[in-house]
Amino acid sequence: MRVVFLGAPGVGKGTQADRVAAASKSVKLSTGDLLREAVRNQTTLGREAKGYMDQGKLVPDSVVIGLVREKLADLSGANGFILDGFPRTVVQAEELNRVLASANTPLDRVVNFQVSREDVVRRLSGRRSCPKCQATFHVDFAPSKKGNVCDRCGEPLVQRSDDRPEAIETRLKVYEEQTAPLIRYYRERQLLSELDGSGSVDAVFEGLSRVLAPYR
Ligand code: AP5
Ligand code: ZN
Repeated sequence: MRVVFLGAPGVGKGTQADRVAAASKSVKLSTGDLLREAVRNQTTLGREAKGYMDQGKLVPDSVVIGLVREKLADLSGANGFILDGFPRTVVQAEELNRVLASANTPLDRVVNFQVSREDVVRRLSGRRSCPKCQATFHVDFAPSKKGNVCDRCGEPLVQRSDDRPEAIETRLKVYEEQTAPLIRYYRERQLLSELDGSGSVDAVFEGLSRVLAPYR
C-alpha cells in the first residue's frame, strides 16, 4: 500500500497513519515528525526549519524534498508507506512523482480528510504530544491514561509550539493557499478518495480501512 494522507492541520492524519501503519506493516513517514526531530537535535536543517514551523509557515520545498528523498529510498524493503504531511505543495507532488516513477512504485491512493474548521481548531488547541516517542494525545478526546505524562514511555507531554492560536490561524491559511490545490491535482489524476474525518478516532479508522482495503 502506497498512500498519501492529505488534509488541513489537525484533521487526524497522524493519528490515523499510526493506526494504519500498525495494522498493515506499512511504514508511516511524517515530514512534521522528521522536521521536529531535526529541530530537537539542532541539526543544520533543524535550525533552518524552526523559524518557519513556529510561525506555522511551510518549510521551503528544497529542504523538505532533500529530507524525504533519502527516507523514501530507505523504504524499499517495507510493505508500502503512508505519507503524512507530504506532499504539501505542487512542487513537492511533482518531485514525489519523479522519485516513485523511477523506483517503479506509483501511488495507490491519496486520501483527503475532511473535518470542519471549528473541529480542527478544537483538536489542535487540545493536542498534547510526547517529545520522546511522538505519541499524540488530546486533553478531551484522547487523554493519556497517566494524565500529563505519556502512557507509552513516561515522558511529560508538551504542547507543540505551533499549536498556539496565532500559529494555528497561519497554518490554516497556508493550507488553503498552498496545500488545498493538491486536492484538484490528485483528483485529476484519479487518485483521490474523500474521507469524512469528523467522527471518533475508531469511526474514522473504519471508514479509512474501507477506502484502503483494495491496496493491502
Ligand atoms: P505537521 O506535523 O505535518 O502538522 P500538520 O499538517 O499541521 O498536521 P498536524 O500534525 O497538526 O495534524 P494531524 O492531521 O496529523 O492531526 P493529529 O492526528 O495530530 O507539520 C508541522 C509543520 O512542519 C508545518 O506547519 C510546516 O512548518 C512543517 N512541515 C511539515 N511537513 C512539511 C512539508 N511537506 N512541507 C513544508 N513544511 C512542512 O490530530 C490532532 C489532534 O486531534 C490530536 O490531539 C488527536 O489526539 C486529536 N484527534 C485525532 N483524531 C481525532 C478524532 N477523530 N476525534 C477527536 N480528536 C481527534
Ligand atoms: Zn511517549
